[in-house]
Amino acid sequence: MEKKVTVVGAGNVGASLAQMIVQDGIADVVLCDIVEGVPQGKALDMSEACPLWGSASSITGANDYSYTAGSDIIVVTAGLARKPGMSRDDLLFANAKVISAVVESTSKLSPKAVIIVVTNPMDVMTQLSLKVSGFDSARVLGMGGILDSARFRTFVAWEMGVSPQDVEALVLGGHGDLMVPMPRFTTVKGVSLPALISQERIDALVKRTRNGGAEIVALLKSGSAYYAPAAAAYQMVKSIIFNQNRMLPCAAYLKGEYGERDVYAGVPVVLGSCGVGKIIQLDLNEQEKKEFDKSIEAVRSLVEKLKL
Ligand code: LAC
Repeated sequence: MEKKVTVVGAGNVGASLAQMIVQDGIADVVLCDIVEGVPQGKALDMSEACPLWGSASSITGANDYSYTAGSDIIVVTAGLARKPGMSRDDLLFANAKVISAVVESTSKLSPKAVIIVVTNPMDVMTQLSLKVSGFDSARVLGMGGILDSARFRTFVAWEMGVSPQDVEALVLGGHGDLMVPMPRFTTVKGVSLPALISQERIDALVKRTRNGGAEIVALLKSGSAYYAPAAAAYQMVKSIIFNQNRMLPCAAYLKGEYGERDVYAGVPVVLGSCGVGKIIQLDLNEQEKKEFDKSIEAVRSLVEKLKL
């Protein structure tokens, strides 16, 4: 295998992502976790599935970051997940400690890697990773918008009774309670959502999307969503590994785009082997801009709490 992906955190998101990469055989994986035995056990289990998956990928479980050296991509999923009733922001200080330590070690060993941050509160954890790694901001990005957009796509598909693959959606802003689903940029086979369903129904789907992560946390009672988060991170990994230049909503560092500066926010980016190749600027209307700004304000307040 030519490409190497490090997945830090062998919990549900990390292990599911590792499985997707290894099952499709697109890269070798190092699965890291501080818990002894867990990454090794999961890696061994997946290695033994490789003959059945017809995969030539290798997967190594480790507690020691030395195994991660020379990775092309580092995906950070380590940290605590939400419990019922918690917001993503409630994890701020606990996860900041974890992320600092993880990024400090892994970025030194893989100085050319692209870092994808999944750990919540994701936007601010991505900003922290930028600071700790010292990488160019094009190579540090966060996973949120693809997941939120996939949820919106699902709900629109159910509402319309159509296949989710015919629905495209865009959710921008921070990956928090104030995220901004964009009905105007959401289409079913190219037809804009407001031309297809009533405003009242759109509002209900937007609300469900904003609450999508919490809905699953409340059902699971222990832990948070992982199949869709892992699938969303996998789409980013693929776009980077194969230099696909997919246009995907990701948390990217803004330097004046969307009227914001020095802050991470979910925006459409072109994602290739060097990370963010380009940020796509959309013309937001007054209401959309207002909601976007409010969402970014919430991210900024967490950035300030961490004194980044
Ligand atoms: C969610 C978590 C992963 O949205 O942020 O489910």
